[in-house]
Amino acid sequence: MRMRRKRNLEPRMQACADILVARGKPCKNLKEAAEHYRALIDYRALFLREAPVELEVGCGNGAFLSGIAARHPERDFLAVEVCSNVVLTAMERIKREGAANVRFLNIPAEILLCYLPEGSIGRIYLNFSTPLPEAGREKQRLTSDRFLGIYKKLLKAGGEIVQKTDSEDFFDYSLRKFRENGFAVKDVTRDLHNSEYAAENIVTEYEANFAAKGKPIFRAVAVLQP
Ligand SMILES: C[S@@+](CC[C@H](N)C(=O)[O-])C[C@H]1O[C@@H](n2cnc3c(N)ncnc32)[C@H](O)[C@@H]1O
Repeated sequence: MRMRRKRNLEPRMQACADILVARGKPCKNLKEAAEHYRALIDYRALFLREAPVELEVGCGNGAFLSGIAARHPERDFLAVEVCSNVVLTAMERIKREGAANVRFLNIPAEILLCYLPEGSIGRIYLNFSTPLPEAGREKQRLTSDRFLGIYKKLLKAGGEIVQKTDSEDFFDYSLRKFRENGFAVKDVTRDLHNSEYAAENIVTEYEANFAAKGKPIFRAVAVLQP
């Protein structure tokens, strides 16, 4: 179902301009973008300090960002979300809460390398990415070879991806893809909320809905190998 455009979307996006660092689809594809569009972000200028930078891909309404930014004021967070309607909710929430360590990119993750310097991200969070089980949509899955290639360029040496999902098939697919793409997989649980990792877990919007329906949550960490 197509989401209705939010009321006053444009003026509200404008009101968040100080925390929105990229917007739109500047080019048709990554190759064209790489050739014609270079706007690599200078984290020091953006956050006015030197701190570890982490990235959430597909941040949704920002519940996770809100939690992790408050828990880790010593880190900086970037959030990428393709849908303007959705990223607006997250940005308004972060502004309301006054977190100084979060910025947003309203772009498809496919063009992240046009904005973020290679080897600059310590951790990537993939929270409840759409599983897209249809065979013809594999390339769009956020743990397909295509996306893992992008994340590998963005991550620092020894950087990691933390994935949570409610879909066992997507989880197993992702574990296979992580290993095939040179990541070591650790801290795997097939029931996060009843595991040793539960205490430190920050619940996302989708996670709360799935958990309320009694669905187990799958979680793993994929560490980039040298
Ligand atoms: C199922 S929602 C999960 C939202 C949130 N992470 C949570 O756990 O509550 C997936 C989100 O990823 C975004 N998304 C999907 N593909 C994307 C892409 N290629 N680039 C950026 N965002 C994407 C969608 O717009 C959607 O908001």
